[in-house]
Amino acid sequence: MSSIDYSQKIPNNVNLNDDRTLQRALEGWQPNFLSWWDDMGPDGSQNFDVYLRTATSVDPQGWATFGHVKMPDYRWGIFLNPGEADRKIHFGDHKGEAAWADVPGEYRANLRRIIVTQGDTEPASVEQQRHLGLTCPSQYDLRNLFQVNVEEGRHLWAMVYLLHKYFGRDGREEGEALLERRSGQENNPRILQAFNEPTPDWLSFFMFTYFTDRDGKFQLCALAESSFDPLARTTKFMLTEEAHHMFVGESGVSRVIQRTCQMMNELKTDDPKKLREAGVIDLPTIQRYLNFHFSVTIDLFGADESSNAATFYSTGLKGRFEEGKRMDDHVLKGQTYPVLHVENGRLVEKQVPMLNALNEVLRDDYIKDSIAGVERWNKVIEKAGIPFRLKVPHKAFHRNIGSLSGAKISPDGQVISEAEWSARSPEWLPTAGDRQFVASLMGRVVAPGQFANWIAPPVMGINRQPVDFEYVRFA
Ligand SMILES: [Fe+2]
Ligand SMILES: [Fe+2]
Repeated sequence: MSSIDYSQKIPNNVNLNDDRTLQRALEGWQPNFLSWWDDMGPDGSQNFDVYLRTATSVDPQGWATFGHVKMPDYRWGIFLNPGEADRKIHFGDHKGEAAWADVPGEYRANLRRIIVTQGDTEPASVEQQRHLGLTCPSQYDLRNLFQVNVEEGRHLWAMVYLLHKYFGRDGREEGEALLERRSGQENNPRILQAFNEPTPDWLSFFMFTYFTDRDGKFQLCALAESSFDPLARTTKFMLTEEAHHMFVGESGVSRVIQRTCQMMNELKTDDPKKLREAGVIDLPTIQRYLNFHFSVTIDLFGADESSNAATFYSTGLKGRFEEGKRMDDHVLKGQTYPVLHVENGRLVEKQVPMLNALNEVLRDDYIKDSIAGVERWNKVIEKAGIPFRLKVPHKAFHRNIGSLSGAKISPDGQVISEAEWSARSPEWLPTAGDRQFVASLMGRVVAPGQFANWIAPPVMGINRQPVDFEYVRFA
């Protein structure tokens, strides 16, 4: 069960051979996926041989092999974690019953919506990142970008498999629609707003993979608890791939910071103007990018009070982060949770039924996890002997969803006037000038072992290869 059959057109560990109808349906979708990849995948890179990892089994040890592959030949496939014998539902109204091997009729619409919403983010991020290869800071980074892209493509496969197998004709139609929406396109955009924002430069890319792929981690963790067993098993395997995406983001930002600090010490200055002239990204600009990506990403968790969130939990479709490790009744009726809103010019907490606040619960878990990495970035600055510290903004800052939507809140959580917001937001969010400056640094560096001036090399290469390894062979 755990090893993957690569002799088939669609590599899989789900015995696709035994279900001819499903196999034919997916083989019908495959060319459409490839033509989407052709149109919307990494720009001008179809002929590159890229040092990619490919899943060869879902065993926790050694599931990946590495080798040079042309991306259109990447073996996208369907990989589920092995099932747990006699798995029981462990939260919500069905707690204690057997997990579902199939979709219960009454939850069909909601499950489909959950799977489609998750599935839509996967091709969206490939579209958002499609031009970045043209301005890569090194071969090492180019390879990492492509690895993230092919795996997001595989995550789309994972969701389309569930749609085809369990949702009949509706599912097949959704599978097509996932290839038709386009990130940022006005008449047929991707479902969630953060996936319609452009990712125009590599600082944005690293922030995106740190913050927004981490949203992916938390959503997948919540779905890995699902009573619908195939969804739980699919998302568990996706999580093993997601870890690398967050590594790309965390180490990427860290290397940008390291290079900036090095230049600050060399020039003995913290003047952004001088640092920009020296071709590195000043720390206040990095802070503004952080503020932007953090705030846009925490909106992805949805409204702070949501009856849908309550329904998804109580019916067993979506659990909490690490549901199994929590010491409560896993039903949550009669419990409360604090959410924020603005009252008389101040942020105040109000207690609401916890079931309705589960988006907020997941958002708070996410925030805790994000802060940890930001502290690791601060260690780099501290080690360089520089007094500056990066900070995650208040969760009410720059929000566009829920009760805080549109409220004017400073990064330290003060309610401010419209006028103060207009005057000060250029200190807090990337300005057109910041974006222009960062864009001006982006140039293509592809000689093995060479790095753009604005970023430090990594400590080690991929899969224990040297940093100057030929990660990408250009045609
Ligand atoms: Fe993904
Ligand atoms: Fe990802």
